[in-house]
Amino acid sequence: MTRLGVIGTGHFAAYFIAALRHGGYEGEIFLSPRNAGIAAQLKRDFQCRVANSNSDVLEHADLILLSVRPQHAAEALQPLRFGRKHTVLSAMAGIPVGRIRELVRGVDAVHRIMPSSFIEAVRGPIPLYPAAPALMSFLAFAGEVVTLPSELAFEMAMITACFSTWVYDLAEAVTDELCRHGLDPKSARALTLGNIAGPAGFALANPKVSLAAISASIATEGTFTKLGLEHLKSRGFDGPWREAIALLSAKLRQTA
Ligand SMILES: NC(=O)c1ccc[n+]([C@@H]2O[C@H](COP(=O)([O-])OP(=O)(O)OC[C@H]3O[C@@H](n4cnc5c(N)ncnc54)[C@H](OP(=O)(O)O)[C@@H]3O)[C@@H](O)[C@H]2O)c1
Repeated sequence: MTRLGVIGTGHFAAYFIAALRHGGYEGEIFLSPRNAGIAAQLKRDFQCRVANSNSDVLEHADLILLSVRPQHAAEALQPLRFGRKHTVLSAMAGIPVGRIRELVRGVDAVHRIMPSSFIEAVRGPIPLYPAAPALMSFLAFAGEVVTLPSELAFEMAMITACFSTWVYDLAEAVTDELCRHGLDPKSARALTLGNIAGPAGFALANPKVSLAAISASIATEGTFTKLGLEHLKSRGFDGPWREAIALLSAKLRQTA
């Protein structure tokens, strides 16, 4: 079984390891000792082993997760001796595969992933670039792998991670209105969030039907759904969303 080593025992590593363990990964996990607090918590909660040093991580593991902050990448990686036995999985935002290769000389297989933090609690997409047939069964413990065909496409996937957070703010507008009319916050939250998770699950279960077609099949003549949707459309509700998406897209194109 894959033996995972982690260089960068921080927030990302914590939620990725939680997702792996919740998904049934039982292989060994060796942690860089830096950030003793998170390392101790991961050792206790997810049966990880804390290595003596970053070099010790490389000695014990074959798949190496790079999850230091981008500005610490060179300082953390350049002193290390990677070898052919290693496969590298980088979660470092904005560092292209070409640059990672320079930092981990001697490694044949270098891949990038960029899952969102919610995978700690529920399964979600694991954007991957480039394709990694040998890693699919390992990554499937953490979530649903979505392999992107180019580094630009991989960078663009970041937009969906940002979008997943914007949805909270939209949901807050709905729960506020429900609470104003007497619902208790717990019920308002359950109703609102259940009505985000439900449609998402339904659409994922029906991949051949377009999202617009699903909406049109529900928002039929005379329904409250259509009444509200027509109002939103008449106000150009998607305009600011498209602008925000274009803003991120322009920034992400610069890094790809
Ligand atoms: N957090 C997210 O939601 C998220 C999502 C996607 C991708 N990422 C990526 O994940 C990476 C880590 O982000 P994060 O939020 O997890 O940051 P973080 O919590 O600060 O974790 C980074 C860890 O790296 C450690 N570190 C720094 N220099 C090191 C070195 N030379 N050797 C070993 N460990 C070292 C830090 O230790 P100290 O605290 O002692 O400095 C810290 O524990 C980033 O590249 C980011 O782009 C993060």
